[in-house]
Amino acid sequence: MMTEKIPFDAIFSGVIGQDYELLNLICPLATQMSQLVGLAAADYAVQATENVNVVELGGGTGITTLALLSASDKFNILSIDNEPVMQKQAKQHLDEWVKQERLAFCGDDALTALKNIATSSVEIVATAYTLHNFLNIYRKEVIQEIYRILKPGGQFINGDRYALDDLDKQIRLIQNEVSGYFKVLPQLDKLDVMEHWIVHLFSDESENHIMREAVALAELSAAGFSQINLTNRREVNALVTAIKPEL
Ligand SMILES: C[S@@+](CC[C@H](N)C(=O)[O-])C[C@H]1O[C@@H](n2cnc3c(N)ncnc32)[C@H](O)[C@@H]1O
Repeated sequence: MMTEKIPFDAIFSGVIGQDYELLNLICPLATQMSQLVGLAAADYAVQATENVNVVELGGGTGITTLALLSASDKFNILSIDNEPVMQKQAKQHLDEWVKQERLAFCGDDALTALKNIATSSVEIVATAYTLHNFLNIYRKEVIQEIYRILKPGGQFINGDRYALDDLDKQIRLIQNEVSGYFKVLPQLDKLDVMEHWIVHLFSDESENHIMREAVALAELSAAGFSQINLTNRREVNALVTAIKPEL
């Protein structure tokens, strides 16, 4: 079990956590993906007559959490993130929903938090741009735990970086991504942020982290999920949904 965060995550939150509004400028597809996660979760919950329990992994500053809260008023969300700098901002941004008891926070790392949640107890596990940061071995365990805590019929929803299986296309997209940083960030005098984004990309693309499409979908299948769908591919980003089969 990996409970320690990789150093890149601390860098990511230390600098980018405070400048997260920049995300829209650097990677507008990322904020769009959070909205898609919210909409997919709301679609799933449309038939529900009671409140729907949602576990969110890597809530960060609250962008995906807010997308979920805005998409349906049926959600009771537990938002997990082990980086206090990020989670503190989410707590400030989303205090209104905490007071309404629709949102609670957990500061444990994803795997530890999931292991503390009862089997077959939640309808939805939703997440965006978090699983790609994990070491592959840690992510595999996280997927198995997500499956365990979902109720039969429950849904896993992830808007994230799913690397293309075509290695040449993937590297071209990453090269374009880096070029895009150079177009936006120097003009805003954000060279420190640019440095950290580029450094972080090396982690994302490294062999022990990269979440490649075919491998990721096979991993969901091996964990027991069915109805596994990858949709809304936009460059290296995509939405993945999967269902824990009914008994
Ligand atoms: C890129 S942010 C995504 C935030 C938000 N979901 C969004 O899309 O804007 C990734 C978040 O995952 C958190 N994170 C990374 N590794 C984690 C782990 N092992 N357990 C819990 N949270 C983790 C980081 O602290 C960070 O806040």
